[in-house]
Amino acid sequence: MRTTIVDIMEMKRRGEKIAMLTCYDYPTSVWEDEAGVDIVFVGDSVGTNVLGYESEKEVTLDDMIHHLKAVRRGVQQAYLLVDLPYLTYESPEDALRNSRSLISHGADGVKLEGFRPDIVSHLVQDGIQVCAHLGLNPQIHETKGLRAKTARAAERLISESVALQDAGAWLMVYELIPEEVAREATRRLSIPTIGIGAGRHTDGQVLIVSDMLGINDFDLRHVRKYDNFHDRATQAIRRHVAEVRSTEFPAGENVRHLSDEESKAMGNMLSTDKVRNHG
Ligand code: KIV
Repeated sequence: MRTTIVDIMEMKRRGEKIAMLTCYDYPTSVWEDEAGVDIVFVGDSVGTNVLGYESEKEVTLDDMIHHLKAVRRGVQQAYLLVDLPYLTYESPEDALRNSRSLISHGADGVKLEGFRPDIVSHLVQDGIQVCAHLGLNPQIHETKGLRAKTARAAERLISESVALQDAGAWLMVYELIPEEVAREATRRLSIPTIGIGAGRHTDGQVLIVSDMLGINDFDLRHVRKYDNFHDRATQAIRRHVAEVRSTEFPAGENVRHLSDEESKAMGNMLSTDKVRNHG
C-alpha cells in the first residue's frame, strides 16, 4: 500500500521518526523505496547535484518533470514529494497550474520555499498537498549558512510556521536552523516537521542523497556519509580504463562466439570471391 500524507501525520502522532531523502533518478528511487524511505523527494537540488548547474535557480519545471517521471517509475511504496522550482509560484495562478502539472506527472505533493501562506491556501483549496520550507531557502537567499540565529528571528520563524500550518500546509521542512528553534517549532506544530541541519528534535530528517552516499566528495557538518560512492566509483572506473589499455578486458568470459558450424561457413564464404575485400 502506498504511503499517504495521513500516514505521515500519524507517524508524528505516534512519535515515530520520518525518513525523507532526495532522489533524482530511477535506480536510486528503487533503492530508496526498497530501503523503506517514507518520503522520496525530488528536490530542486537536482540542479547542482545532477545537472551540473551553478544554482538551484537554474532548474526549470521541465527539468523537475523529467526527473519526477523517472523517480515515479521506481517508487511503489513511499510518499512522493516534488519541489516547485524557482519562479514557478510567483502568483497563485502560476502555482496552481505548475503544481497540477507536477501532480499529473506522479507527485503526491509539492514543496515550496518561503513564507507564502497565500500560495499554500490557494493550492490546498484545490486539493493539493503542500509542504512548506523555512530556514535557509536556496531559491530566495543569496548566501548560504545558518538561519534563525537570534531570538527575534526564531520567534518570526515559529510564527510564520504556525501561519503556514493554518494556511493548510501538511508538512514543514526546516533547513539549517539551530536545534533549539527546530525543537520549539516542532512542539508547537501539529503537522510533521522534517529537518536538514536542524538538529535532533524534528519529526523527521531529510538529507541530499548525493551527500549521504558520498557521491559528493565534500563534507558538511549536518551530513553523515554512509558510503563513499565518489571514491569507489572513481577507483572502479580507473581500474576499467587500465584493463582496457592492458587488454585484460574483455576476457574470455566476456565474449560471445559463433557456433562451430557458422564459424566454418563464414571461413568458407570469406575464402570465395563472393565477398569483396574492401580493405
Ligand atoms: O531541494 C532540496 O534538496 C531541498 C532539501 C534541502 C530539503 O529542498
